[in-house]
Amino acid sequence: MKIMVCGKGGSGKTVLTILMAKVLLRKFKVYIIDSDESNSLLPSFLGVKQPKPLVEYVGGKREEEDFERMEPDIVKALSMARGGIKLSSLPSEYIVTSSEGVSLVTIGKVREYGEGCACPFNILTRILLGNLSLEEDEVVLIDTDAGVEHIGRRVEEVSDGIIVVVDPTAESLELALMLMKVAEKLGKSFWVIANKITEDIKDSIFEEASKMGLNIDGVVRFDKELYTSCLKREPLKSSIALSDVERIIWEKILPKIVRD
Ligand SMILES: Nc1ncnc2c1ncn2[C@@H]1O[C@H](COP(=O)(O)OP(=O)(O)OP(=O)(O)O)[C@@H](O)[C@H]1O
Ligand SMILES: [Mg+2]
Repeated sequence: MKIMVCGKGGSGKTVLTILMAKVLLRKFKVYIIDSDESNSLLPSFLGVKQPKPLVEYVGGKREEEDFERMEPDIVKALSMARGGIKLSSLPSEYIVTSSEGVSLVTIGKVREYGEGCACPFNILTRILLGNLSLEEDEVVLIDTDAGVEHIGRRVEEVSDGIIVVVDPTAESLELALMLMKVAEKLGKSFWVIANKITEDIKDSIFEEASKMGLNIDGVVRFDKELYTSCLKREPLKSSIALSDVERIIWEKILPKIVRD
């Protein structure tokens, strides 16, 4: 199962991707693909060092059209044998595994002023996901870039499901609605997780979501311990948000993963 974690900037995609990975680890081998071209703290939050970006493995960043043209060569380069790409077979410098057992692969980061847009990274993500060969016991969570770029590059087509993380803002809900329509059109599993929720705001977000025809599958409470560990760039510390994520995974996400 390949699940994209999407949502508005700052809604909590990266943090929830890591917490979900930790929970899923009890049942699956879990990989995170960091396809966000700008933020770089995921490895610190996971407690690993930054792996070499995959874009370097395929010869460096190119124009998106070049990457599209090069797809067969890229797939060949990334596949160790016939039958598709296996993340576990990537050279060790391109994949790091946390002490708990979550593995991380990074697509690439925009680092230099004027280096061009991030579209090529989305194309590379699509090529990787579209040719990934997964075992039954493997789950891949894709921590995406904020907003809609990945929709424009049709990354959703090569995933099995979409989790949208919404914070309590109208913009977040709007993006979730847009992604719901994409998921419906493509026939993908779809979940909405409301994050950073406090008791006083909970009813309002449910009310606003339901007005839009959006179903919220689960709520993750605002967790001060988590917030502080992020601020300090430490491996994530959380009990409140983690317990909420746990419930959402067991009650809402796993039943669908297993059924599909
Ligand atoms: N449940 C939560 N409780 C408290 N703080 C949270 C929670 N979830 C996320 N945060 C805070 O929100 C910040 C943004 O979270 P995160 O980096 O995961 O968002 P993002 O959607 O990945 O952002 P970006 O779009 O920039 O990649 C974190 O630094 C963290 O402090
Ligand atoms: Mg992020």
